[in-house]
Amino acid sequence: MKATVYVSRDLSALSLGAEFVAFAIRTEAEKRGHDVEIIRTGSRGMAWLEPLVEVATPNGRIAYGPVSKGDVASLVDGGFLEGRTHPLYQGLTEEIPYFKNQERLTFARVGVIDPLSLEEYVRLGGYKGLANALKLSGRDIIKEVIDSGLRGRGGAAFPTGIKWMTAFDTPSIQKYVVCNADEGDSGTFSDRMIMEGDPFVLIEGMTIAALAINATEGYIYLRSEYPHAERTLNQVIATAYQEGYLGDDIRGSGKKFHLEVRRGAGAYICGEETALLESLEGKRGLIRYRPPLPAVAGLFSKPTILNNVITLASVPIIFEKGAAFYKNYGMGRSRGTLPFQLAGNIKRGGLVEKAFGLTIRELLYDFGGGSFSGRPIRTVQVGGPLGAYLPESQFDTPMDYESFSAIRAMIGHGGLVAFDDTVDMARMARFAMEFCANESCGKCTPCRIGSTRGVEVIDKIIQNRNREANIHLLHDLCDVMLNGSLCGLGGLIPYPVLSAVRHFPQDFGITDWEALSLA
Ligand SMILES: Cc1cc2nc3c(=O)[nH]c(=O)nc-3n(C[C@H](O)[C@H](O)[C@H](O)COP(=O)(O)O)c2cc1C
Ligand code: SF4
Repeated sequence: MKATVYVSRDLSALSLGAEFVAFAIRTEAEKRGHDVEIIRTGSRGMAWLEPLVEVATPNGRIAYGPVSKGDVASLVDGGFLEGRTHPLYQGLTEEIPYFKNQERLTFARVGVIDPLSLEEYVRLGGYKGLANALKLSGRDIIKEVIDSGLRGRGGAAFPTGIKWMTAFDTPSIQKYVVCNADEGDSGTFSDRMIMEGDPFVLIEGMTIAALAINATEGYIYLRSEYPHAERTLNQVIATAYQEGYLGDDIRGSGKKFHLEVRRGAGAYICGEETALLESLEGKRGLIRYRPPLPAVAGLFSKPTILNNVITLASVPIIFEKGAAFYKNYGMGRSRGTLPFQLAGNIKRGGLVEKAFGLTIRELLYDFGGGSFSGRPIRTVQVGGPLGAYLPESQFDTPMDYESFSAIRAMIGHGGLVAFDDTVDMARMARFAMEFCANESCGKCTPCRIGSTRGVEVIDKIIQNRNREANIHLLHDLCDVMLNGSLCGLGGLIPYPVLSAVRHFPQDFGITDWEALSLA
């Protein structure tokens, strides 16, 4: 009997030796006369179990991990091809609590299917959303997106349907759809995982966006450090053209949409939408003044829908199952699910897709299992390098956009980076300012000059040179950057800096925070 084995080809698994594991399974099985089919998938998102190997059984897929090539002979001898137990046995994959307790909508197929197989994608519900969207007018497509409550997953959480409506309402013979796949935030990898694990869902989402505003051309602006995703995307785009899902006549509808991947310039600022558009046009990644918004005058000054990978990849399920289905998940004005990403000093790092509303503590402990070092988690930075450092007293905050803004924090792209009690928060604040100085595009003074002055002021605080006066100076400087910067890099860097000072004053040598009378 032929055994079917699944091995991830996601970058996280490959970096841990998945290629060697797949090769060893084939050779060890052949040596023993077993017939094996190895299917390469995306990752299930349980990074601590990678390389994860699964085998199909009548009861479902059984997982083994983390598997190294040296484990393979004992796995085969122990009967893993029939799903037998072994020290690396993890049971049914979908019963592993980390996985079972998720609500996978956008990531439903990731880790399950061969990402290059259009047939598999369609078999598991793919392109049903497009078929439904093709029956609607542009205005009705946009209404469905508005009704779903979907907000941008790239950071700013702007309502997606409203952005699309602006592009729809702006007359032009040429419109574009651009996908922001720059994924520059520290501790984030959900864009990469979906592009490597279920790339057709992104193409489908972009095609629906194009139908909505009658755009005929689209670009995926891809982070230069993602060569595997680039190869995968180019392969599936070619398949989509061949099968009539892209091109001049999408599935016989007479609608046209062409799509290309463009490699990014390797700068953090090129993830900001206007700098991205400059870069896509072949120029240096400098921020543009707003207005006009990209939806009015974006790529080559034409109306452009510019959305994050996860935003666009969340669109097909809205059209497959309806806006009400999607809206049913979440809390308050944060509707649907978000793929949270656990990184840093955490025992079980990886991807957790859940409806908005679970708490930071649930993510860090129920899913993450606490710190990797075994020491108490002292702080977590949520939302990338521009996100606030949150202390333990705020770990019960629900993951929802409004609850986060109430505590002067942001969810951003859903990345959580954990730190144990050995972290020095004054160093982290300095690092944030230094990051801003290194990545600043230089267009506005508060960020260009302010970030360099910020590093100097933090150094003086650390060295106890006029500490109290310099704390006040840092506070004023952050106020200027927050309110006077042209974009979110200079405008948000005060979040990590001030949250570090506010929540961990002792690391800055401040004994009486109240006495400083800072807001
Ligand atoms: C400095 C900076 C970097 C950013 N980097 C990214 C990024 O890597 N990926 C992303 O999707 N959005 C990034 N954004 C947000 C984008 O400017 C934009 O809001 C987003 O791509 C819009 O898509 P959405 O509405 O789907 O979130 C960044 C913003 C700033 C200020
Ligand atoms: S805030 Fe920084 S990155 Fe943004 S426009 Fe100003 S100088 Fe450029």
